[in-house]
Amino acid sequence: MPVLRAVSDLHVGHRGNREIVDAVVPGHTGDWLIVAGDVADRIDDVVRTLTQLRERFAEVTWVTGNHELWSRAKDPDQVRGVERYERLVSRCRSIGVHTPEDPWPVWTGPGGPVRVAPLFLLYDYSFTAPGTTTKEESLAYAFRTGVVCTDEYLLHPDPFDSREQWCHDRVASTARRLAAQSDPDVPYVLVNHWPLVREPTRVLRYPEFAQWCGTELTADWHVRFPTAAMVYGHLHIPRSTVYDGVPFEEVSLGYPREWRKRGLPAELARPVPLRPVPPRAELAAH
Ligand SMILES: [Fe+2]
Ligand SMILES: [Fe+2]
Repeated sequence: MPVLRAVSDLHVGHRGNREIVDAVVPGHTGDWLIVAGDVADRIDDVVRTLTQLRERFAEVTWVTGNHELWSRAKDPDQVRGVERYERLVSRCRSIGVHTPEDPWPVWTGPGGPVRVAPLFLLYDYSFTAPGTTTKEESLAYAFRTGVVCTDEYLLHPDPFDSREQWCHDRVASTARRLAAQSDPDVPYVLVNHWPLVREPTRVLRYPEFAQWCGTELTADWHVRFPTAAMVYGHLHIPRSTVYDGVPFEEVSLGYPREWRKRGLPAELARPVPLRPVPPRAELAAH
């Protein structure tokens, strides 16, 4: 039987990870693969990797991570911000990979029908650092402790003035789209590089890193919209949790020093658990 699978944070630019992509394989010719961001920093590496995966899986759906959006001096693709994102989208389209900007495909295999909704939402620093309540205080805390995400230097928001503004623009347009296509008979598999709720960040070793991990604006999306599962990465803490009855799956591989310590899972392309569709009345009660 075909399976809906997911992986993220392949970071193929890291020595030791490129070979691991060979182990991201289907168990059935009909398997689909969700790739939840941080494939690589360089656009050519992203496209090469997704091309390989597209040859193996019946469908591949990608969302950008923060690393795809980094503008580095070594990258032959010298584009930044929205223009960089759009370049990634068009390159993915050219190899037959679904992006957040395309129609969201419906999985009709076991556990379906579900609509795979790839999202690109970014973060707005609202997962504030301990003892702080504003973005300014939270960022100051992080600069004081030295735990500052490299996005601050490499992820440019142009033409927006800030990553926060870009995030808010994405959240507003995505919420409208999710509402317009909302159908309890075909619930969503919400896919975003960053978790839609703050809870998964509570286990971060450095809690001040959470401000680069999502936005409070999406805290109720998994109950506001019919959702069979939520798939994310970014934290490099692969695990399965459940919030309000919805499975949340962190599906990252992570850096070699991380996965070597914890070991590789039996299946790198992890099966996505799909909860049965709750009745309409139950959804309305939230
Ligand atoms: Fe990552
Ligand atoms: Fe990331």
